[in-house]
Amino acid sequence: MINRTAIEKAKEHFGKLMEAQMERMVRMKNEPDWVDYTKISPIKIGILPGDGIGPYIAAEAERVLRYMLEDEIKKGKIYIATIEGLTIENRAAHNKAIPDDVLEEIKKYHVTLKGPTTTPRKGDPWPNIESCNVAMRKELDLFANVRPVRVPRQGIDWIFFRENTEDLYALGPYGIDVDEDFSIDFRLISTPGAIRIIRMAFEYARKNKRTKITCVTKANVVKTTDGRFLENFYNIAKEYPEIQADDWYIDIMTAKLVDEKRRREFQVLVMPNMWGDILTDEAAEFQGGVGTAGAANIGKQYAMFEAIHGSAPRMVQEGRAQYADPASMIRAAAMLINHIGYVDKARKLEMALDICGQYEKKLVITGRPTGATGKAFTDYLIEWLNNPKLEETWEGYVKG
Ligand code: IPM
Ligand code: MG
Repeated sequence: MINRTAIEKAKEHFGKLMEAQMERMVRMKNEPDWVDYTKISPIKIGILPGDGIGPYIAAEAERVLRYMLEDEIKKGKIYIATIEGLTIENRAAHNKAIPDDVLEEIKKYHVTLKGPTTTPRKGDPWPNIESCNVAMRKELDLFANVRPVRVPRQGIDWIFFRENTEDLYALGPYGIDVDEDFSIDFRLISTPGAIRIIRMAFEYARKNKRTKITCVTKANVVKTTDGRFLENFYNIAKEYPEIQADDWYIDIMTAKLVDEKRRREFQVLVMPNMWGDILTDEAAEFQGGVGTAGAANIGKQYAMFEAIHGSAPRMVQEGRAQYADPASMIRAAAMLINHIGYVDKARKLEMALDICGQYEKKLVITGRPTGATGKAFTDYLIEWLNNPKLEETWEGYVKG
């Protein structure tokens, strides 16, 4: 027996989603151009500590940020403050991914540095609210998730441009339980959405003299949506004849990243949201795991920088939060500093992070009392930032 009522209900639900998406298309086509940070004073930086180990590592990341931007803060060019309320307790109390007053506050800052926030799932003690990362990306239209992965000694120097607002994530919380037997989720790729991320990746490649760009899809199977993404990729590629463009399917791509000879060839990679989610975790593993990677969520008006790992509530329950590794969030801080225009300072911070985390390793973080605390590690890092031999030491390590 076909349940016509269930089908009609599903169609109505689907209709509403399509209406909202069409409105989004209009907004995207009329979006304002990129903000120019050189024309803003002060640039307002908001710190969102998050929950779990978040506040612990955020405190260290903020300390580094203030240290790096000390002069600018004194001169009134930069303003840094903490934004309260983005904790799982407060979000659960409002039953919202981001409570309204918190979102309003966030929008007063040009850029934010965010600690991990707990994402509830079915069965957790929390209401099953949407991930706050995903909500923030949508609310502030942070369409580009930029994740660099570098392991200089292995010849790895990748930068991933993951689309950040569409694909399975756009309608992730709005699927339908059609009847008691089956459910449907929706995958969405739009031309304006694909164009803006693909163009950003090509522009990055051109500006940074990268010679190759790779698009990752599963267009052989997911023909309509990934097909649209891929078609836009090759259309835009024609405007950048100096950059070699190719494409791979996500399955073989995950394999090629472990192929030590082939993986060095990849430089700039661009892909829809879900493939990017998976691939960037794999890629970060070569650099030392997701704990070492930072991510930039960039839109034309706002930008948010975050650690890509979770909030590790167990570390807090077991009284080990002070041993959490702040490196990922400090990497995110480096990306923030770069994004607002202080390229040399960001480079310095990245060098110090490489020395402390990958090469010299005078202090090692294990997440337990067997290792250093996040605070001790940050002190060690700041010591290196003060060291006039930072650059030459880093070069020495990289050359091996
Ligand atoms: C990430 C995370 C998030 C995502 C989760 C926490 C919702 O895995 O930033 O990659 O899937 O995007
Ligand atoms: Mg992820």
